[in-house]
Amino acid sequence: MTGAPPLEALTQRPLRHFTPPQGWMNDPNGLVYHDGEYHLFYQYHPDNLVWGPMHWGHAVSRDLYHWQHLPIALTPDEDGMCFSGSAVVDGHGVSGLFDGGEGLVAFYTAHRFIGDDEAHYEQEQHLAWSRDNGRSWHKYVGNPIIAAPGFRDFRDPKVIYHEQSGRWVMALACGQHIRFYTADNLLDWQLASEFGHDQGCHTNGPWECPDLFELPVEGSSHGASRWVLVVGVGIDHDGPQDSMGSFTQYFIGHFDGERFHNDNPDEPLLLMDQGRDFYAVQSFSDVPDRRLAIAWLNNWQYAGHTPEAGWRGAMTLPRELYLAATDHGIRLHQRFVPELARSVSPLEVAPFDAPLKEGHHLLATPGADLVRGALTLEPAAGSRLVLSLQQGTQQQLILCAGDDTTEVAYRREGHSGVTRVDQHFPGERRAGELDGRQIRIQWWVDHGSVEMLIHGRTRQLSITLAGFLLPHRYPVTLSVQSGSVHLIDISLDAG
Ligand code: FRU
Repeated sequence: MTGAPPLEALTQRPLRHFTPPQGWMNDPNGLVYHDGEYHLFYQYHPDNLVWGPMHWGHAVSRDLYHWQHLPIALTPDEDGMCFSGSAVVDGHGVSGLFDGGEGLVAFYTAHRFIGDDEAHYEQEQHLAWSRDNGRSWHKYVGNPIIAAPGFRDFRDPKVIYHEQSGRWVMALACGQHIRFYTADNLLDWQLASEFGHDQGCHTNGPWECPDLFELPVEGSSHGASRWVLVVGVGIDHDGPQDSMGSFTQYFIGHFDGERFHNDNPDEPLLLMDQGRDFYAVQSFSDVPDRRLAIAWLNNWQYAGHTPEAGWRGAMTLPRELYLAATDHGIRLHQRFVPELARSVSPLEVAPFDAPLKEGHHLLATPGADLVRGALTLEPAAGSRLVLSLQQGTQQQLILCAGDDTTEVAYRREGHSGVTRVDQHFPGERRAGELDGRQIRIQWWVDHGSVEMLIHGRTRQLSITLAGFLLPHRYPVTLSVQSGSVHLIDISLDAG
């Protein structure tokens, strides 16, 4: 493929990823499951293709991939724009907002400019409620529920119910740390503690969009569990051009209802995704049996410059989060949800002679607009492999096998409309190291993105990349640049 691909081809809507009906979209907000419906609200500027006065857009789904657009849930008013936040089911009516019945309660940050200068603003926490399954919303008359503290960045409330203490907890991003507040009734919040001044990754960008949840450690015989605190690290506008832009870190530890204790205080950075386009992730509230999450499939570094066709921005596929005991300790891993697998059907893939030696090997040309793939392979020690998943913008996964570990890197090259997507990320980028001899790669390629989960023996890497791909051009090519590889299995599904 030479030259810039035609723009129309790059801006087709993805088939399984959520996109806004029109206009600009960023963070997922208010993810909550209620009455058989998954609610997805999102940061929305309906009348423009760049970020601006933030509304909460709204959609619902029963299967996590057919989304029905609903009217805008929250609109800016004299209190300011409606920035990111979360939602919960008030099942016992503790807020008193539902005449003893139940309803949905949303928490968001009201963002108000002071004067004409966009650099001067105030942020406070507001509440809105709905008694008709999110179809209509009322802003609470007692807003703000938490007043502006006297410093600028104070936002993105994530509210959870803490079973053990029987209280509600709010995690809030404040400058470059997290504050935890507690309440009995969802309305009256008290500051309980702060976390992160001296832990985790700090750039010049603000911390944003926290999330907090408890998960069992899979495979633990004595039923161990841990708390996970997820924190977005916002863009540092003065940072170097080749910085990571916006990215998502997490902490593993204990939470007693008031205070988060980090199990790995000396670990500078645990990344939830090693790619470039996984930000403002939020998990769903009130899903009974698993922890599901969706992220904004974008990066503040170039989100306003990607190709558009009357809409701009996409969400990741929904993922299930789980804790795994790895040889590096307990880590947050992800899996694609089984619902999505039902939306594709298997393609036939020709059998291979093993092992593959130096040279290019076209594994398959699915010729579909949406491809789900899985590949298990065992590279010989010292081998270098490059897996290409489509044409257009090239997305490549690079594996360098050692004796009992494999180095994983990736490369993204090509155009995004009139600019090059690789200008911010020149060259090959290291993702991490996997343990064991066998590597299993699972991926989804849809219009505009590649999402990969790559597993070693106990470790996993997640790599999410916006791609601006040419539909139908998703040949799967494995290039053995040195050494050899044993292909154990490959499966492809199309949708
Ligand atoms: C993260 C973020 C949030 C904020 C929202 C504004 O992407 O900067 O911190 O609430 O976007 O749209």
